[in-house]
Parts: sequence; C-alpha cells; structure tokens
Amino acid sequence: MKSFSSFIAVNLMCLHKADSFLTNSPITTTKAIHNAQNHNHPRTTSAPLASLTPPTYAAAGPPTVNMNQYNLPLPQSISEWTAVLQARTSLQEEGIFLQPKNTRDLFVDTLQFRIRRRGGLGLLLTELAGREDGVGITIVEEVLSGGNAEHSGIIPGDSIVAMTVIQSVGDTMENTEETRVSVSTECLAYDATIEALTSLPPPESSEEEIVLTVKRLRRQPKVHVKLQYPPHLQEPDVTIELFAGENLRRAMLTRGIKLNDKLARRFDSGGSGDCGSDGTCATCVVAVTKGAELLSPMKEQEGQILSKKPRWRMACKTVVGYGMAEGDLTIQVNPRQWEI
Ligand code: FES
Repeated sequence: MKSFSSFIAVNLMCLHKADSFLTNSPITTTKAIHNAQNHNHPRTTSAPLASLTPPTYAAAGPPTVNMNQYNLPLPQSISEWTAVLQARTSLQEEGIFLQPKNTRDLFVDTLQFRIRRRGGLGLLLTELAGREDGVGITIVEEVLSGGNAEHSGIIPGDSIVAMTVIQSVGDTMENTEETRVSVSTECLAYDATIEALTSLPPPESSEEEIVLTVKRLRRQPKVHVKLQYPPHLQEPDVTIELFAGENLRRAMLTRGIKLNDKLARRFDSGGSGDCGSDGTCATCVVAVTKGAELLSPMKEQEGQILSKKPRWRMACKTVVGYGMAEGDLTIQVNPRQWEI
C-alpha cells in the first residue's frame, strides 16, 4: 500500500506540547488510550455517505450568508483549539472532542470537502498538542499551492476529524457494491493522525476522491439591537448584543428589558396577561424600524394576528440573526404606547 504520508506534506512542529490542553477531564489515562486506539481502526460500511449540504444552525436555520466571513485567522485558531472529554448523550458517544476555549464567542462548525486522492492532497499539518497515548490536536497549517486541496475550501486552522473513501468491491458489473471506508481522526496527535490516514486503502483510480470532514472554529455572528422606549417614558435608548439564533423575547428578558405591555389584550381570552411565549397575548410585541431582514420569517399565526401592523413582531416568536446573518436592528418597545 502506498503510504499516505507521501500524499501530504508534513510539518511536525509542536507549538504547545503539553498535557494540559485536555480540559474538563475527570479522564483516566486508560480511557484516553482506548479512545485514541479506537480512532485508528477503519470502519467499512455500505451505508450511503452523508450529503455535503450546508449545515443548519439550530434556531438560526440554514445559512443565508457566506459563513466564511466568520472564519478565524490561523493564529487565533491555534490559541483557541482545545479538547474536552464529553460524556455519552443521546446525540453522541462518549469521547474526546474539539472545542474552542472561548465557547461564548466562538463555535465549531463541521464541514465536508471532496478532494482527489491521487497526486497528493497538498495539506501541511501541524500538531498543536500531543500525548504519548496518541491523543492530541492536529490542524491544517497550510493549504499548498498547486495541491488537490488548493480550491477545496479547506483553510489553515481546520482540523481533520474524519476521512472517508468510497470504493467499488466486486468482480463483475452486476456484482459490484459501493463500499465506504472511514477513519476518525478527531483529537489525535500528529503521529496518530498519520497512522489513521495510512490505514485507508490505496486509491483504485486516478479520479478517486476522499471526503474530509473537518472542524472549523468560527466566531458567533452577532446582532446589535437598539431598543427605543415610548417617548413619554423619557428613557434613553439601550443597545444590547445578541447572538444569531437567540430568541428575541428570551434574550431581552434575561438582559432585564421590560416587555409586558399593559395595553395588550390576549387573542385567546380577550383579557390581559402574559401567555408565556404561546403567541396569543401580544404583550411581547415590538415594532421593527431597522433590520427586519435579520429576523426569522413570520409563521402563519403571528402573521394573521399582526396583519394590520406590518412592522410589528411578536418577540417570543422571533429569532434574531436568522440564517446566521449579523447586523444592526432597531426596535421600539411597547409600540402601542408610541401611538398614544
Ligand atoms: S409572550 Fe405572549 S405573544 Fe409573546
């Protein structure tokens, strides 16, 4: 088998060779070894490969902006990557996973790229941290000019967390099956990463591609919300900073903004009072005077209730930074009182 190390340029620069990179760890050495060793066994399956469609960002929905504007420069990625031990949940197995140190302002995006195998990927890898048991952090330091990864979308600072090759197995046209061979490389030191890569079967054809799953640090898009109070209250404007995907009502309440409009009447009972985000009391209504495009689209019930007030939104049914957009938003709190 042709060594994979000939497909990638190698830089074994150790920037932070220390054990302390692994945080949050009631971890035992035994578990760490087990985790690292498990990574190095390629898994073969005939299950279909996950599509390379853009990810969806929880409440912020699918991106409507170029997410690369939130990429970090390499030096910041180098100083921010860390590894944490996470317990098993319904969504993931127990294991060691990449994470930013600053979890408030940064997040990890998982992306996939297809790259031709033959001729070399053209990625310069570097180890940020590594232990003898194989646990560590290895990232892309440079995407080499002229290499197959040059226009792939991979950037310095990305960490390869899985590699998948798709090959055909069988001796006849009728008896051929597509087989997927994957190897996980998340939180591996440099040598363990190379070992995992070399365990993949060699390319069968000059056109064969490899799917690289990478984790990338990005900054959280932010929306600056200017709140204006009814003129008779003579309150100064207040500007708060929200992350894309935050619910407007919840974000305002947690920042101490009073929303409850005494003039509001419930649509379900005709009385007053807070419905608790049910979308029936309209005590949380705000008027949007700038940046409406940064908000999640109205659903049917909200649209019907507010049909005569085109600038109004129910804060409890509104997500800011929809589509991972960022920008400036201006809203009038308690808009009924603006009309007195
Ligand atoms: S809290 Fe009742 S409609 Fe928003």
